[in-house]
Amino acid sequence: MRPDGSPSGSSAEPAQRLFFALWPPATVAEALHEHAQGYAALHGGRVMRCDTLHLTLQFLGATPASVIPQLLDLGSAITSPAFALEIDRLDYWPGKRILWAGSATIPRQAIELVSSLASALQISGNWPITNPARTFVPHLTLIRHVGVPVRTLPPLPALRWHCDRFVLVRSHRSARGADYENIGEWRLR
Ligand code: 2AM
Repeated sequence: MRPDGSPSGSSAEPAQRLFFALWPPATVAEALHEHAQGYAALHGGRVMRCDTLHLTLQFLGATPASVIPQLLDLGSAITSPAFALEIDRLDYWPGKRILWAGSATIPRQAIELVSSLASALQISGNWPITNPARTFVPHLTLIRHVGVPVRTLPPLPALRWHCDRFVLVRSHRSARGADYENIGEWRLR
Protein backbone atom coordinates (compact mmCIF):
# COMPACT_ATOMS: atom_id res chain seq x y z
CA MET A 1 0.00 0.00 0.00
CA ARG A 2 1.22 3.52 -0.69
CA PRO A 3 1.60 6.00 2.19
CA ASP A 4 -1.69 7.67 1.12
CA GLY A 5 -3.55 4.36 1.55
CA SER A 6 -4.04 3.62 -2.16
CA PRO A 7 -2.88 0.25 -3.48
CA SER A 8 0.65 -0.07 -4.71
CA GLY A 9 1.46 -0.35 -8.42
CA SER A 10 3.61 1.53 -10.85
CA SER A 11 3.19 5.24 -10.13
CA ALA A 12 3.19 5.86 -13.91
CA GLU A 13 0.07 3.79 -14.61
CA PRO A 14 -3.36 5.43 -14.53
CA ALA A 15 -5.51 4.49 -11.56
CA GLN A 16 -9.05 3.20 -11.96
CA ARG A 17 -11.88 3.71 -9.50
CA LEU A 18 -13.13 0.28 -8.44
CA PHE A 19 -15.58 -1.24 -5.99
CA PHE A 20 -17.27 -4.57 -5.18
CA ALA A 21 -21.04 -4.33 -5.36
CA LEU A 22 -24.43 -5.93 -5.81
CA TRP A 23 -26.64 -4.89 -8.74
CA PRO A 24 -30.37 -4.94 -8.07
CA PRO A 25 -32.71 -6.56 -10.59
CA ALA A 26 -34.23 -4.10 -13.07
CA THR A 27 -37.66 -4.27 -11.38
CA VAL A 28 -36.17 -3.16 -8.04
CA ALA A 29 -34.02 -0.44 -9.64
CA GLU A 30 -37.00 0.89 -11.61
CA ALA A 31 -39.25 1.02 -8.54
CA LEU A 32 -36.55 2.80 -6.48
CA HIS A 33 -35.86 5.25 -9.28
CA GLU A 34 -39.54 6.10 -9.51
CA HIS A 35 -39.68 6.76 -5.75
CA ALA A 36 -36.51 8.86 -6.04
CA GLN A 37 -38.06 11.11 -8.63
CA GLY A 38 -40.96 11.78 -6.28
CA TYR A 39 -38.64 12.66 -3.36
CA ALA A 40 -36.46 14.87 -5.56
CA ALA A 41 -39.54 16.86 -6.52
CA LEU A 42 -39.96 17.64 -2.78
CA HIS A 43 -36.36 17.86 -1.60
CA GLY A 44 -34.32 18.70 -4.69
CA GLY A 45 -31.03 17.02 -5.47
CA ARG A 46 -29.62 14.90 -8.25
CA VAL A 47 -31.49 11.66 -8.86
CA MET A 48 -29.16 8.75 -9.64
CA ARG A 49 -29.84 7.16 -13.01
CA CYS A 50 -31.81 3.93 -12.85
CA ASP A 51 -29.02 1.96 -14.55
CA THR A 52 -26.49 3.10 -11.93
CA LEU A 53 -28.34 2.09 -8.75
CA HIS A 54 -26.15 -0.36 -6.81
CA LEU A 55 -25.20 -1.50 -3.34
CA THR A 56 -21.50 -1.17 -2.53
CA LEU A 57 -19.90 -4.04 -0.60
CA GLN A 58 -16.33 -2.73 -0.48
CA PHE A 59 -15.07 0.48 -2.06
CA LEU A 60 -11.48 0.22 -3.31
CA GLY A 61 -10.99 3.70 -4.74
CA ALA A 62 -8.21 4.56 -7.17
CA THR A 63 -6.55 1.29 -8.11
CA PRO A 64 -3.66 0.67 -10.53
CA ALA A 65 -4.74 -1.51 -13.48
CA SER A 66 -1.90 -3.94 -12.71
CA VAL A 67 -3.66 -4.99 -9.49
CA ILE A 68 -6.92 -6.00 -11.22
CA PRO A 69 -5.87 -9.66 -11.81
CA GLN A 70 -5.26 -9.95 -8.07
CA LEU A 71 -8.75 -8.59 -7.39
CA LEU A 72 -10.30 -11.02 -9.88
CA ASP A 73 -8.56 -13.92 -8.11
CA LEU A 74 -9.75 -12.54 -4.79
CA GLY A 75 -13.38 -12.41 -6.06
CA SER A 76 -13.14 -15.96 -7.40
CA ALA A 77 -11.97 -17.25 -4.04
CA ILE A 78 -15.06 -15.94 -2.19
CA THR A 79 -17.57 -18.67 -1.39
CA SER A 80 -20.71 -17.13 -0.02
CA PRO A 81 -24.37 -18.16 -0.25
CA ALA A 82 -27.14 -16.33 -2.10
CA PHE A 83 -29.61 -14.43 0.10
CA ALA A 84 -32.82 -12.44 0.00
CA LEU A 85 -32.73 -8.73 0.73
CA GLU A 86 -35.85 -6.73 1.54
CA ILE A 87 -35.43 -3.13 0.48
CA ASP A 88 -37.92 -1.60 2.86
CA ARG A 89 -36.22 1.43 4.41
CA LEU A 90 -35.53 4.97 3.28
CA ASP A 91 -33.08 7.16 5.08
CA TYR A 92 -31.15 10.38 4.76
CA TRP A 93 -27.55 11.16 5.69
CA PRO A 94 -27.36 14.90 6.34
CA GLY A 95 -23.52 14.97 6.20
CA LYS A 96 -23.32 13.41 2.75
CA ARG A 97 -26.71 14.88 1.79
CA ILE A 98 -27.80 11.62 0.25
CA LEU A 99 -31.15 9.94 0.35
CA TRP A 100 -30.85 6.18 0.24
CA ALA A 101 -32.81 2.96 0.31
CA GLY A 102 -31.81 0.01 2.43
CA SER A 103 -32.95 -2.80 4.64
CA ALA A 104 -34.41 -2.70 8.14
CA THR A 105 -33.04 -6.23 8.64
CA ILE A 106 -29.61 -7.08 7.28
CA PRO A 107 -29.32 -10.76 6.38
CA ARG A 108 -26.48 -12.63 8.07
CA GLN A 109 -25.23 -13.80 4.66
CA ALA A 110 -24.83 -10.17 3.48
CA ILE A 111 -22.67 -9.41 6.51
CA GLU A 112 -20.66 -12.58 5.87
CA LEU A 113 -20.06 -11.56 2.25
CA VAL A 114 -18.84 -8.11 3.29
CA SER A 115 -16.70 -9.69 5.98
CA SER A 116 -15.18 -12.25 3.54
CA LEU A 117 -14.27 -9.47 1.13
CA ALA A 118 -12.81 -7.38 3.95
CA SER A 119 -10.68 -10.30 5.19
CA ALA A 120 -9.42 -11.11 1.70
CA LEU A 121 -8.58 -7.45 1.03
CA GLN A 122 -6.87 -7.19 4.39
CA ILE A 123 -4.80 -10.32 3.77
CA SER A 124 -3.77 -8.96 0.36
CA GLY A 125 -2.44 -5.98 2.29
CA ASN A 126 -3.32 -3.59 -0.47
CA TRP A 127 -6.51 -1.86 0.63
CA PRO A 128 -7.96 0.02 3.55
CA ILE A 129 -11.29 -1.58 4.52
CA THR A 130 -14.10 0.88 3.82
CA ASN A 131 -16.94 -1.32 5.03
CA PRO A 132 -16.04 -3.26 8.19
CA ALA A 133 -18.76 -5.90 8.65
CA ARG A 134 -19.64 -4.60 12.14
CA THR A 135 -20.63 -1.16 10.83
CA PHE A 136 -21.84 -2.15 7.36
CA VAL A 137 -24.96 -0.23 6.31
CA PRO A 138 -26.18 -1.71 3.04
CA HIS A 139 -27.61 1.12 0.96
CA LEU A 140 -28.42 2.23 -2.54
CA THR A 141 -27.94 5.96 -2.99
CA LEU A 142 -31.02 7.35 -4.74
CA ILE A 143 -30.40 11.12 -4.61
CA ARG A 144 -27.20 13.09 -4.10
CA HIS A 145 -26.88 16.75 -3.08
CA VAL A 146 -30.34 16.81 -1.51
CA GLY A 147 -31.30 20.48 -1.36
CA VAL A 148 -33.81 20.59 1.48
CA PRO A 149 -32.98 18.64 4.67
CA VAL A 150 -35.21 15.59 4.91
CA ARG A 151 -37.08 15.29 8.20
CA THR A 152 -39.78 12.74 7.51
CA LEU A 153 -39.82 10.05 4.92
CA PRO A 154 -42.83 8.14 3.65
CA PRO A 155 -42.75 4.37 4.13
CA LEU A 156 -41.15 2.41 1.34
CA PRO A 157 -43.22 -0.54 0.12
CA ALA A 158 -40.92 -3.55 0.54
CA LEU A 159 -39.05 -4.65 -2.57
CA ARG A 160 -37.68 -8.18 -2.53
CA TRP A 161 -34.31 -8.80 -4.11
CA HIS A 162 -32.74 -12.23 -4.52
CA CYS A 163 -28.97 -11.52 -4.36
CA ASP A 164 -27.25 -14.29 -6.26
CA ARG A 165 -24.17 -12.60 -7.70
CA PHE A 166 -21.67 -9.92 -6.81
CA VAL A 167 -19.47 -7.88 -9.11
CA LEU A 168 -16.28 -5.87 -9.34
CA VAL A 169 -17.15 -2.53 -10.93
CA ARG A 170 -15.04 0.09 -12.67
CA SER A 171 -16.41 3.62 -12.48
CA HIS A 172 -15.87 6.14 -15.27
CA ARG A 173 -16.70 9.81 -15.01
CA SER A 174 -18.74 11.13 -17.94
CA ALA A 175 -20.78 14.21 -18.74
CA ARG A 176 -23.90 12.42 -17.44
CA GLY A 177 -22.27 11.46 -14.12
CA ALA A 178 -20.71 8.10 -13.32
CA ASP A 179 -20.84 5.19 -15.73
CA TYR A 180 -20.23 1.73 -14.32
CA GLU A 181 -18.73 -1.29 -16.00
CA ASN A 182 -18.57 -4.82 -14.56
CA ILE A 183 -15.06 -6.18 -14.82
CA GLY A 184 -15.65 -9.27 -12.69
CA GLU A 185 -18.77 -11.19 -11.76
CA TRP A 186 -19.27 -14.16 -9.43
CA ARG A 187 -22.23 -16.25 -8.37
CA LEU A 188 -23.41 -16.54 -4.79
CA ARG A 189 -24.75 -20.04 -4.14
P1 2AM B 1 -22.27 6.28 -1.55
O1 2AM B 1 -23.33 5.96 -2.57
O2 2AM B 1 -22.71 6.10 -0.16
O3 2AM B 1 -21.62 7.63 -1.82
C1 2AM B 1 -19.27 4.32 -6.05
O4 2AM B 1 -18.79 5.61 -5.82
C2 2AM B 1 -19.76 3.70 -4.76
O5 2AM B 1 -18.71 3.68 -3.81
C3 2AM B 1 -20.92 4.41 -4.10
O6 2AM B 1 -21.83 3.44 -3.69
C4 2AM B 1 -20.31 5.13 -2.93
O7 2AM B 1 -21.13 5.17 -1.77
C5 2AM B 1 -19.15 4.23 -2.60
N1 2AM B 1 -18.06 4.98 -1.99
C6 2AM B 1 -17.42 6.04 -2.50
N2 2AM B 1 -16.45 6.45 -1.67
C7 2AM B 1 -16.47 5.62 -0.61
C8 2AM B 1 -15.71 5.51 0.58
N3 2AM B 1 -14.70 6.32 0.85
N4 2AM B 1 -16.03 4.53 1.44
C9 2AM B 1 -17.03 3.68 1.20
N5 2AM B 1 -17.79 3.71 0.08
C10 2AM B 1 -17.51 4.68 -0.81
